[in-house]
Amino acid sequence: MTKKVIAVSLALMMSLLNMGTFTNVEAREKEVLPVEENVQYTPPQEETPAEETSAEEVPAEAVEVTYEEPQVNKRVIDPTKPMVALTFDDGPSKYTAEILKVLQENNSVATFFVLGSEVNKYKDVLNQVIAEGNEIGNHSYNHKNLKTITDEELYKQIQGTDDLVYIASGYTPKVMRPPYGISDADLNKKINKPIVKWSIDTLDWESRNTDKVVAAVLNDVKDGDIVLMHDLYDSTAQAVKIIIPKLIEQGYQLVTVSEMSEHRDVTLTQGQQYYSMYK
Ligand code: NI
Repeated sequence: MTKKVIAVSLALMMSLLNMGTFTNVEAREKEVLPVEENVQYTPPQEETPAEETSAEEVPAEAVEVTYEEPQVNKRVIDPTKPMVALTFDDGPSKYTAEILKVLQENNSVATFFVLGSEVNKYKDVLNQVIAEGNEIGNHSYNHKNLKTITDEELYKQIQGTDDLVYIASGYTPKVMRPPYGISDADLNKKINKPIVKWSIDTLDWESRNTDKVVAAVLNDVKDGDIVLMHDLYDSTAQAVKIIIPKLIEQGYQLVTVSEMSEHRDVTLTQGQQYYSMYK
């Protein structure tokens, strides 16, 4: 700013020399303004937007507000109480927002294992998923059986999806779920993330039946379970409307996979796989 003030003062002095005496205030304002503009163009660095935002007229607080973290409901996790991690694979899709609404209404979160191929189609929903405190996991680019592809292709499936998520949202997935849950120790080692599988399979993709999905969860659920669902079907979105309030009524806290690991003292480790986090 000091530099700018000096530059402007110089401009004023120069304009005084060029113009001689002012006749009136109007004339002064009229003449000084264009000169001041010219001065801004003299040093090329002064034109950058960064220089603009650092100007004193913009209060520091206002600049910070622009980069403030999205407002997330404050949830307090009680490690002594039971918890369940709901997970949704293969999205984002047109049903994701409906599931997010139920989670929000119940002050709950889940983990969404997204496909790289869907990220740009549902960029806004992806950002909403993150803004509302949910976790994003990597589910490969386009759902190939990762055991059947070359190492180079594997790298693209994983890193390419991370990159797409990052470019769309600034978020980097910490955990990975291989398509179909297919992986072995060798593949897990090549995937440079903790591998998250599941302890309850709702088979929602097969039944496409709300009652069956509800029953698959509620008949079997216990503290530390990781539940597999897909945010791809209306039947699943409808089931979630029943499952989430019911689990809360039963005293469960709905948390992300990473939150559950923290509160269960499980260190999520690259190359290791996790099916549940029982006490
Ligand atoms: Ni899948």
